[in-house]
Amino acid sequence: NVGDDHLLVEAPEAALLCPRRPAAGHKGTFGHLLVIAGETGKSGAAAMSAEAGLRSGAGLVTVACPAPVHAVLEIKLTEAMTVPLPAIDGALSLQALDQVRTLWVGKSAVAAGPGLGRSAETVALVRRLVAECPLPLLLDADALNAVSEVPDVLLERAPGTTVLTPHPGEMARLTGIDIQAIEADRLGVARDFACRYGVVLVLKGARTLIALPDGRIRINGSGNPGLASGGMGDVLTGLIGGLMAQGLSPANAAVLGTFLHGRAADRLSRIQGEAGLLATDLVRELPATRRELT
Ligand code: APR
Ligand code: MG
Repeated sequence: NVGDDHLLVEAPEAALLCPRRPAAGHKGTFGHLLVIAGETGKSGAAAMSAEAGLRSGAGLVTVACPAPVHAVLEIKLTEAMTVPLPAIDGALSLQALDQVRTLWVGKSAVAAGPGLGRSAETVALVRRLVAECPLPLLLDADALNAVSEVPDVLLERAPGTTVLTPHPGEMARLTGIDIQAIEADRLGVARDFACRYGVVLVLKGARTLIALPDGRIRINGSGNPGLASGGMGDVLTGLIGGLMAQGLSPANAAVLGTFLHGRAADRLSRIQGEAGLLATDLVRELPATRRELT
């Protein structure tokens, strides 16, 4: 029942979920996020995910991107490291697989998908990543589109180690159910998918739902229409990914990340209004948003 208060995620719970910062902590303590994103023309998606990962408190972030956008990301990003991967026509090629396998070694979590593109080779690469990567894995945007054609690949992963962050259009592709039917039964559709595939399913929108693999549902209590601008989803990807890299369970990272994302928008919109809120504004707001909670 959507109206039940215990379903709603609010500030006190989010405060408890925030990872502690031990006084003697060093960057290794706070994890290393690998972001796989950004075909030609979408370098901003990779950059926003990486910066959100850093602003989430992760110790290190590395972005793996198609070689043609690598130089651009080196200029856009300062704290994040970047790795060029083999590409065809600006998008990742299947040849990148060997390097991706070596890149996830020593990382704490992987977030894939923003601006990755939908070429056949990228789709094939994402499927191998999903089947083989032993780390907590977040799939968004084009990584979801890749999985849509063969959702059963998700069953190759250990239950509860995967977070999916579809908007309703991506959810429609994942399930084969049309958008109107999804919006009419967001809770039921999200729960069915999460249980069937053993994933944490974040169904985005004005009231983002988090469906857990055990059938439980959470509803995010923060956020506003200021979030309706390009790149906000890419920020959520880096934020949840960065929290997983810090050791939060995929379920807790999804709950906390979704709450902080909306809360940062709520803080900013009080100051500057909802219209014209940019995803890069939101990224900068994340540390203070978190501090205010705890
Ligand atoms: N109220 C609250 N939250 C909102 C609202 C609203 N009215 N509108 C949007 N949001 C939030 C969503 O819940 C989500 O967290 O903003 C974010 C939007 O994410 P996406 O839909 O993924 O948008 P974005 O990633 O910026 O889109 C860029 O990526 O996923 C692809 O197909 C997508 O081409 C698009 C591209
Ligand atoms: Mg998106």
